[in-house]
Amino acid sequence: MDNKEKICLITGASSGIGYAIAKALGRDNHTLIVTARRKERMDGLAGKVVDIVAGDLTSHDFLDSLDSYVYDKYGRCDILFNCAGIQENGAIEEIDIDKMSRMVRLNVESTFRLTYRFLKRFKKQGSGHIVTISSVLGTKVRPTAGAYAGTKFAIEALSEALRMELAGTNIKITCIEPGLVMTELHKDWKIHPKISMGIHEPLAADDIVEAVRFILNQPEHVRIPKLMILPKDHII
Ligand SMILES: NC(=O)c1ccc[n+]([C@@H]2O[C@H](COP(=O)([O-])OP(=O)(O)OC[C@H]3O[C@@H](n4cnc5c(N)ncnc54)[C@H](OP(=O)(O)O)[C@@H]3O)[C@@H](O)[C@H]2O)c1
Repeated sequence: MDNKEKICLITGASSGIGYAIAKALGRDNHTLIVTARRKERMDGLAGKVVDIVAGDLTSHDFLDSLDSYVYDKYGRCDILFNCAGIQENGAIEEIDIDKMSRMVRLNVESTFRLTYRFLKRFKKQGSGHIVTISSVLGTKVRPTAGAYAGTKFAIEALSEALRMELAGTNIKITCIEPGLVMTELHKDWKIHPKISMGIHEPLAADDIVEAVRFILNQPEHVRIPKLMILPKDHII
């Protein structure tokens, strides 16, 4: 990864994709501010600076304190990684509406809110990169995944609008659109999607890290607004 030290805020850093990104960036000696609710799951992250700020991103008080925390302590931020997310599935008429609303609050509202706050900081700073983990379901819908896909479509809309609004500036916007990745996202599902979707070799979180490396290693004039990454036997 680009050798210049970067200051990064990573959400969802206690597990799965966010954790893998934090582990890789820590190894490369970038300064990390990591956040999720489970502090103990981030304690093992190693690097030159790994600053753990535990909290719930659906709490406005907590979320709204993050940019001041980062800027008061480090004076700048180079990359915001929006990795926190949950997935609730079910046919629309059967879905647990309270769980669905919680998912909308985290996947959509928190991502919009954090992006909004860092965007203002990046504008003042004159640079920055917002990398958001969307999904292949930010580009298509499947039965029983309408609500989750809706949250990811919203993130895609946010990112595409920002790409256009920020054209010509030094602020970069990227949406990563993974297919099935083996993480804790599906740990409570009755049937794991690798079975229901017939995916024999799902992605690993480290495959997403490779995509992140590719994105961060581009020359300054190049933009990667979207990057889809799928397992080889992914069909729908
Ligand atoms: N795995 C896949 O197949 C897949 C595919 C496409 C896209 N994605 C997306 O990738 C992103 C990361 O998911 P993952 O697969 O890495 O799942 P994961 O292993 O379950 O990680 C989810 C992360 O989100 C954090 N989180 C959940 N609720 C939170 C809250 N209220 N406040 C703050 N943090 C919260 C969790 O931390 P705490 O529980 O400690 O708070 C955890 O660190 C999500 O946006 C997901 O939609 C995943």
